[in-house]
Amino acid sequence: MERWTIYLGAVILCASAGLTASDGPQSGQPNCAPTVDSACEINEKVASMESFRARTEDGDILTTNQGLKISDDSNSLKAGVRGSTLLEDFILREKITHFDHERIPERVVHARGAGAYGFFQVYNSLANITKAKFLQDPKKKTPVFVRFSTVGGFRGSADTVRDVRGFATKFYTEDGNFDIVGNNMPIFFIQDAIKFPDLIHSVKPEPHNEIPQAQSGHDNFYDFITQQPEAAHMLMWVNSDRGIPRSYANMEGFGIHTFRLINEQGVSRFVKFHWKPYLGVHSLTADDAGKLVGKDPDFHRRQLWESIASGAFPEWELGLQIVEAEDEFKFDFDILDPTKLIPEELVPVIRVGRLVLNRNPDNYFAETEQVAFCIANIVPGIDFSDDPLMQGRIFSYLDTQITRLGGPNFQEIPINRPVCPFLKNNQRDGLHRDTINVGQTNYHKNTLNAGLPKEATPAAGFQGFPERIAANIVRARSPSFDDHFSQAILFWTSLSSWEQDHLVDSFTGEMAHCQPAIRERLVRLLLNINESLSNRVALNVGVKIDPMPYHTAPPKPVTPSPALSQRNQSKDTILTRVVAVLVADGVNGQAVAQFKNAIIAAGGNVSIIAPRFGTVTPAEADGALIPVNGTFGTFPSVLFDAVFIPGGASSVALLGKIGAAVHYVQEAFVNLKPIAAAGEGVELLKQVGWTPQDAKPPAGVVINDGNAISNAFTAAFVEAIKQHRFYEREKTSSVPS
Ligand SMILES: *[C@@H]1O[C@H](CO)[C@@H](O)[C@H](O)[C@H]1NC(C)=O
Ligand SMILES: *[C@@H]1O[C@H](CO)[C@@H](O)[C@H](O)[C@H]1NC(C)=O
Ligand SMILES: *[C@@H]1O[C@H](CO)[C@@H](O)[C@H](O)[C@H]1NC(C)=O
Ligand SMILES: *[C@@H]1O[C@H](CO)[C@@H](O)[C@H](O)[C@H]1NC(C)=O
Ligand SMILES: *[C@@H]1O[C@H](CO)[C@@H](O)[C@H](O)[C@H]1NC(C)=O
Repeated sequence: MERWTIYLGAVILCASAGLTASDGPQSGQPNCAPTVDSACEINEKVASMESFRARTEDGDILTTNQGLKISDDSNSLKAGVRGSTLLEDFILREKITHFDHERIPERVVHARGAGAYGFFQVYNSLANITKAKFLQDPKKKTPVFVRFSTVGGFRGSADTVRDVRGFATKFYTEDGNFDIVGNNMPIFFIQDAIKFPDLIHSVKPEPHNEIPQAQSGHDNFYDFITQQPEAAHMLMWVNSDRGIPRSYANMEGFGIHTFRLINEQGVSRFVKFHWKPYLGVHSLTADDAGKLVGKDPDFHRRQLWESIASGAFPEWELGLQIVEAEDEFKFDFDILDPTKLIPEELVPVIRVGRLVLNRNPDNYFAETEQVAFCIANIVPGIDFSDDPLMQGRIFSYLDTQITRLGGPNFQEIPINRPVCPFLKNNQRDGLHRDTINVGQTNYHKNTLNAGLPKEATPAAGFQGFPERIAANIVRARSPSFDDHFSQAILFWTSLSSWEQDHLVDSFTGEMAHCQPAIRERLVRLLLNINESLSNRVALNVGVKIDPMPYHTAPPKPVTPSPALSQRNQSKDTILTRVVAVLVADGVNGQAVAQFKNAIIAAGGNVSIIAPRFGTVTPAEADGALIPVNGTFGTFPSVLFDAVFIPGGASSVALLGKIGAAVHYVQEAFVNLKPIAAAGEGVELLKQVGWTPQDAKPPAGVVINDGNAISNAFTAAFVEAIKQHRFYEREKTSSVPS
């Protein structure tokens, strides 16, 4: 029965990962298509019970959990039609009791998330650096499940709040599950896991009144964090545009810690894992992000879901930064320190494979909520390093899952089951044990069951790296972890001026909710990073301090790292970008159709936004009615990447009189989005301060003369959408929004 269960699990997982049974052998998934003979010694009695279950008829009839058919699911059993409900109504009691127990504890951190299935495929064998089986064969597709999340907010909070994003990948490899439990930022707040409970307590809602939800801008967080200079670097990342990504597919991912790769010869190298998004790294504006919290709290998960459903599969490349063992000490930071990154200019990121998410889950709870990632889930060929934060995480994930998933058997839940044989051990019992282990023995070594299950050979079993240690046991921090500011300075120095402006704005926003003493401490902390940063925040939040740094060591000179900036992230695609087309009766229908075709041909999408739902009548007498996707109020500009205003005199005249339509154009402009106008539509641009009498249109504003859409115009607009946002507008615009 044990193996029978495994067989079922493997089939379920293969199906979930979008693989058919026949994908198994081709993609080197030996357990995806086991034959009953070879893989399953089926216990006769149990097998016949299973086949009996499979034969039950009426599969679509409502039943109780005991299989009893229910003919009335709307009325409880009563003593007379107007009488009270009877205690003997076991159908009612079972239904209500189950409902009363539907909730499980949400994750303490990363409670709000969204997930998807897909596959990982290596470009070339990495056999020379790792024996991890899933990194050997370019023909093999390893099934994965990925979950993205925010960190601080509760399960019901909003997607677009300023926060770190979780980026956790479970690889169902033939050697067991390998999890990269990472974030969209390459570093962390703290160096030692013993501070983790303090960090999370401080950022979560304050315990006396449970305010604020999913916001880091509050006294407790900044009280704690401004006393942890080691957090300065991460604080810069969270307050940068990385804290408000446009979509999950526009995020980088990082394994954070330094890991080891070990090859067949036992040679160990250090490695940092990276995920590089095919669509580039792009962010929302703070205004978009804040408004989306209310207008569409599901913005990111909806975007992920819809892009997969429409075939625009999110994709990343796996990148490796490899550090030879003998180079461990060649950097001016410690590679074991999780508050430090390795600049890509020092150690290049080698792109070794691709991750594609191509299938939405069937059931949020069963899959996305119950998936249990664990940094301790590694496979032969990969090992930990001595990073003290990583060491704590190895313990913590497994521990937390025992409470959250109700006991020690959570690996039997389908989403968590390895696809290779597992549970071949002597662990038994516990809450929610599904597997029926057969046989007399539950210990090793035994002779009564021929010594089974037996240990693997040393070559086949997991071998940790035999690191040589000669040290005293101490409760202390390595002095090599002491430099808390050089990389914060590196980050600041590497950003474009607009990214620096956003950091100042974000710190200002965060401090708006903090008391004066805490504002002053933040300003002092920032003084160690850059005087202008500190002074600008000080001015904005009304703090005056003597220019005396928090730490007195003079900063080391840094060489900017272009890889840390989002200034050069435009990719040659508009996949997943959606343009709002503003129309009313009398719009030029031909222009709408031509524009829509051009955008869809380029890989984007359009949404027709009008004063009301239904259809809009075009100017052309014989033109087809145009179906409406949303109204100005219900589908506001913050949901879209760009706006187009087609011509048609009466449409444009009408839009100019509707406050919500005027606001739409202004809001898109203020949020730096590409805007296009054709024919009479150009008139609406006066709302953003431009008329055709002026010289060049503002950056990112594309004009089509006349109503007939030209190829040059759509090509120019597609280029503008690739640019994502036009940050040069930010400093000059006085348009309200
Ligand atoms: C491993 O092999 C690849 C080519 O397959 C090569 O680019 C890389 O430098 C090698 N790495 C090491 C550490 O030998
Ligand atoms: C446009 O978006 C809708 C809604 O998500 C989707 O159903 C449709 O397939 C998309 N069209 C294209 C061409 O991507
Ligand atoms: C601080 O940042 C500003 C703005 O980027 C820059 O001009 C200045 O040189 C920086 N100061 C130092 C000491 O690097
Ligand atoms: C931008 O990136 C491209 C390739 O992605 C590169 O060729 C170019 O040099 C980069 N430009 C800057 C200013 O970093
Ligand atoms: C807009 O509505 C049309 C017609 O109902 C539909 O085909 C299209 O997918 C919708 N577009 C979006 C982006 O939802």
